[in-house]
Order: sequence, then structure tokens, then C-alpha cells
Amino acid sequence: MNEADSEEMFLHLSARGAVRTDTLEEADAVLINTCTVRDHAEHRAISFLGRLMKWKRQDPRRIIIFAGCAAQRLGNQLKKRYPFLNIVCGAKEIENFANTLDKSGLFAPAGAAATPAPGLLAYATIMRGCNFNCTYCIVPSVRGPVKCLPVQDILQDVTRKAQAGAKEIMLLGQTVNAYEDGATSFADLLNRVSEIPGVERVRFTSPHPIYFTPQFLQAVKDNPKIARHVHLPVQSGSSKVLREMKRGYTRELFLEKVEALQEHGFTISTDIIVGFPTETEEDFQETLSLVEKAHFFAAYCFKYSPRQGTPAAQMQLLPQNVLEKRLDILLNQVRGLSEQAYQRQVGTQQDVLMEEPTKGRTSGNFWVKTSRAFAVGNMVRCEIEKAEGTLLFARNEHD
Ligand code: 5AD
Ligand code: SF4
Repeated sequence: MNEADSEEMFLHLSARGAVRTDTLEEADAVLINTCTVRDHAEHRAISFLGRLMKWKRQDPRRIIIFAGCAAQRLGNQLKKRYPFLNIVCGAKEIENFANTLDKSGLFAPAGAAATPAPGLLAYATIMRGCNFNCTYCIVPSVRGPVKCLPVQDILQDVTRKAQAGAKEIMLLGQTVNAYEDGATSFADLLNRVSEIPGVERVRFTSPHPIYFTPQFLQAVKDNPKIARHVHLPVQSGSSKVLREMKRGYTRELFLEKVEALQEHGFTISTDIIVGFPTETEEDFQETLSLVEKAHFFAAYCFKYSPRQGTPAAQMQLLPQNVLEKRLDILLNQVRGLSEQAYQRQVGTQQDVLMEEPTKGRTSGNFWVKTSRAFAVGNMVRCEIEKAEGTLLFARNEHD
């Protein structure tokens, strides 16, 4: 989501004459788009700001923009603590970024944005914010409640991107499958986006387990353009911890959803938090056993990080060494999951969307190396001959 927000902000900068550079010394302005989901993310942004202080001292005309979720959380404190910041733009104000730039008087008036070609893969934000209140999570307070974009706007946005060459569209939202606009459900939207000329594949992230209903699966079942991979955060394998996290599902329900998705050909990756304040050794064992059962494609594991203002931040923390030990054990268990998932693909037939002349991705999100070159953007049918690490090797390809 941050990447998509950065792109959106960049479009407004580009309409005011800015061009992108990767070299700090060349830049006149720096935009830092921040995350605050864990303390570590926020620290990284702030320490980068420390580095930029020296950069700005070399030439006081240089501009620093601090945007996103950490900007939202820290708000007015930021300009007091870092008076050299030119613009602070919180996550809730990203939609008004153009106005913020104009009000600052630091940029030329807007002309036509030099719309960069989106490339083969393009993002489309379909909703902002979150209506859940998971007790560890700061997102609802920095991003606010759900606002779904009107379906017509989304279809227009995707059409424009497809006309500019995008073939794979990633629909984005904090609980993306809760999307609705009047009579249009998330499944309807997926089907309508996939009908747009030029669109070959549609992905989405991140869904919430409770919205994967049988009706949803029925609606997408016959649409091969919907990518067969979902990132479905579980957070914990213990029903007790899930209740205390207010996730809205039990271990059993999550496993049921996983099974139903896998029956429909989906591969599943997940997020897991270890060391939630009430997590006992038994609860942690339940997480390990869920990982064993679910056959995830990948699992991203995090130590619990207390976030100011969230209900869980009031609870007694577990000792850091317990968090570290559990993370270590879990990381050991999830290591190798992707390799196993890659091995399970051997012998299957796959459609590979070529991202490089001899490399592309399957619907299930596996990387494939082809035995000969194809045009980038082609969909190539192939047989998977073998897997090495996290790369599949194809044969008998044809487009
Ligand atoms: N501590 C640790 N991890 C967290 N996440 C969200 N909030 C916290 C927190 N307070 C993780 C969740 C989420 C991912 C984006 O970040 O696993 O899915
Ligand atoms: Fe945070 Fe829960 Fe909303 Fe995800 S669903 S953003 S974890 S509150």
C-alpha cells in the first residue's frame, strides 16, 4: 500500500515538474513515505531523517517531505522536533497531497503529470482504512475507517493503466475483500476488472479471512484471470490469542478457509505475530502446529511490538528473550516452506506471465525460468520440469 501511495504522491510531484532520482546528492527534494505498524519501521524512518538533516544543511533550499502512517501518528510533534521538515503529510491526507504541495508554495503550479508508464504490473487502490480493531494494531487509528472507492473510478483507473501496458493488476486495501460499493461486491469487482481489455491477471492484497465466503469462491471459481495466490494473515494459531487480538475468527475457522481456498487452487502466504502479551507456551505451540497444517507458501513472522494507543499496549509485555526465542523457533519452522511449495509445483502445467525474457510468474506467484526467450508481457503455457530453491524450470513452452 505504501508503494502505491508513494506512486500517487509522485504523480503530483511530477505534475509540478519533478523527476525521479535514486541519488540523494542529485535531489532537490526527498519524499519519505513511512510505516508505523511496528516500532522498528518508525525508527528506521526517523533515523533516515537524521541522515537527511546533514544533507539539508549543505543546501537549505533542499526540501524534505515526511508522509504516511508515522507522519499521521506523530503529527504536530514532528515539526517541533524536526523544524527542518518542509511538509508533513499524514496517511489520512494523502488524497489531498496535491493541495498540500500547492499550499506549501515550494513547487511550481501543476501542469499535466508526465504519467509514467506503469510497466507490466500496476497497483490500484480500491479502499483505504480499516473497520477492524485488532487489539495490537495501530492501522485503524492512523488510517481511519474504511472508505471504498467508487467502482466506476476503479474501473477507469485500471482501464487507463491497462491502456498504458499493464497486464497484471494488484488491487489494494487494508481488508481488501471487504470491498463493496452499492450492489458491487468484491467478487463482482474482481470479475469486472478482469474483463477490462489488456488485463491478463488480477491479484489483491491483503484480504481478511472472514470475507472468504463460499459465495466468494463460487463467484471467482470460473475466472482463471484471478491469481491463485492470497496473502492471508493469520497472526496466531491459538483461538484464545485470536480472541484476545479480536481477530474475529478461531483457529478452526481459519483452517477451514485455508482448506477451501486450497481446494480452489490458491497458494497461501501469511503473517504471524509471536509474543502477544497473553501468549503462553501452549498458545505458541498451537501457532507452530497451525503452520504445520496449513502448508503455507511463505510466512512473515514478527515479534509483537506495542503500539501507543492500542488496547494491547496496556497489557504486561512478555520478556524480550521469550519473544526472541519464539521468533527463532518459528523462523526455523517456516524456513524451507517456500522450497517445499516450489517442489509441489513440479509436473504441473502453468501459465507464466513473462516479466523478463526468460523469467516470469505463475498465477500462484511462483517464479519460473523458461528454456527459451519470450517477449516480456506474453503469457506462456509451460510444463514445470523441476524446482531449485525458489525457482521453477520450465519445458515445452508455447505462447
Ligand atoms: N506488532 C507486531 N506485528 C504487528 N503487525 C501489525 N501490528 C503489529 C504489532 N503491533 C503485523 C501483522 C500484520 C503485518 C502487516 O504487521 O502481522 O499482518
Ligand atoms: Fe490492523 Fe486488524 Fe485492520 Fe489488519 S484487520 S489493519 S491487523 S486492525
